Amino acid sequence: MHLRAPAGTEDVLPERVAAWRRVETAAREVLGRCGYREIRTPVFEYTGLFARSIGDATDIVEKEMYTIPRSSAAAGAAPDAASDDEDTLTLRPELTASVVRAYLEHGMHKSRPFQKFFYLGPLFRRERPQKGRLRQFHQVGIEAIGSRDPLMDVETIDVFVRLLGAVGVIGSTVNLNSTGCRECRGVYRGKLSAHLRVHEGALCENCRRRLDRNVFRVLDCKVKTCQPAIAGAPPITESLCPACAAHFGAVQEGLKAAGVPFVLNPRLVRGLDYYTKTVYEVTSPYLGAQSAVGGGGRYDNLVEELGGPPTGAVGFAIGLERLLIAREAVDETARKGASAPPALAPAEAVSDLYVVAVEEAQRGAAFRLLASLRSATLRADMDYDARSLKGQMRSASRAGARVVLVLGPAEVAAGTVQLKDMAKGEQRGVPAEAAAEEAKRVLGLS
Ligand code: HAM
Repeated sequence: MHLRAPAGTEDVLPERVAAWRRVETAAREVLGRCGYREIRTPVFEYTGLFARSIGDATDIVEKEMYTIPRSSAAAGAAPDAASDDEDTLTLRPELTASVVRAYLEHGMHKSRPFQKFFYLGPLFRRERPQKGRLRQFHQVGIEAIGSRDPLMDVETIDVFVRLLGAVGVIGSTVNLNSTGCRECRGVYRGKLSAHLRVHEGALCENCRRRLDRNVFRVLDCKVKTCQPAIAGAPPITESLCPACAAHFGAVQEGLKAAGVPFVLNPRLVRGLDYYTKTVYEVTSPYLGAQSAVGGGGRYDNLVEELGGPPTGAVGFAIGLERLLIAREAVDETARKGASAPPALAPAEAVSDLYVVAVEEAQRGAAFRLLASLRSATLRADMDYDARSLKGQMRSASRAGARVVLVLGPAEVAAGTVQLKDMAKGEQRGVPAEAAAEEAKRVLGLS
């Protein structure tokens, strides 16, 4: 047995959880303020949902899904990642498909077709692990389902930028493109294929395969020999139909009016097939090779492809691990003298109150006092390890306690307790039954 977490997964130890929670709290606050409601879906779904939504010829579906046979009788049989039936289950590699599935399953397209959701949770992709690329990672994302308005695209990008601002990730770039509708993509597919066929000899093996399977993916290839062919490719924006071109223009106008900076990136294609019209990716100079903090776009065909009525939709997802890496890099730069980002709420103390027993004999009384403080809703703790008074006081200060209650033999005999105000360095005796009220007063809670 390997006594280590599987490759591509990370433990978030208690010291780091505070940073995660601060980001999650900021995200919930911003998204709630912008009218998004939280949705929670299962971490696994029938495989067919992802194969149909994300696309059979994408990296995710072709090689990155964790697929498990549904029945134990089938255990050991080679799972069919692209199965469209209900035989296999797949750990979710993304959340857009699940949200649309839930939207349709619960009849929201009939009861209230326009809905704005947000989510926070773990995802699973069998990728080659490296910094910023994990096999279990987390996203915060939004999906606005039921609108084709270009202003809706603008809102999602504005919300993305707001979220980055709220967690202090400065200096990011919004890369914007349009991938058009089915018709524009059909026209563009022809033009792109024709261009790439001319350079076929210079393309890597993967890209030669992509020429037939999914030619748009070539634009995303990082192999050096493919770059000249990619650089010379016609931009998709030249193949947009009038409606898609108008939509793209309106999104750009909306962003300018809202004061959201962006750069046009005609080579931007996303790794999922469901996108139509607007696509965007936000990159950060504080990240390494995996420079995308997150990405998103419009997916006007997906609801219909999953069996619902024609419904416009747009959303994005941000990788939380990458967001935290960027945030920490921003902090690091600030420490080195560059401009400081807005501060997040300070790390919380673990306990406000600490109960200390002078001798072993008072530990029972100390625990009873502790229990009564907790019943009075106070954040209180005691030491279960150190036996010396000094050791217990050290634990109290490590926990961030502002008030320490000390019980010695004299206090137990008299039914009192010594209350130490750590900030002022003052100490006085109070009746044990009044300890909670007194502590609340010192802590400014009453
Ligand atoms: P995505 O571009 O596949 O889009 O993922 C969004 C973000 O999740 C990435 O930019 C990155 O920050 C993070 N991410 C993806 N894979 C990994 C990984 N292996 N390790 C660490 N972080 C990762 C989507 O998932 C779409 N569902 C976004 C969307 C929502 N489009 C419309 N609505």
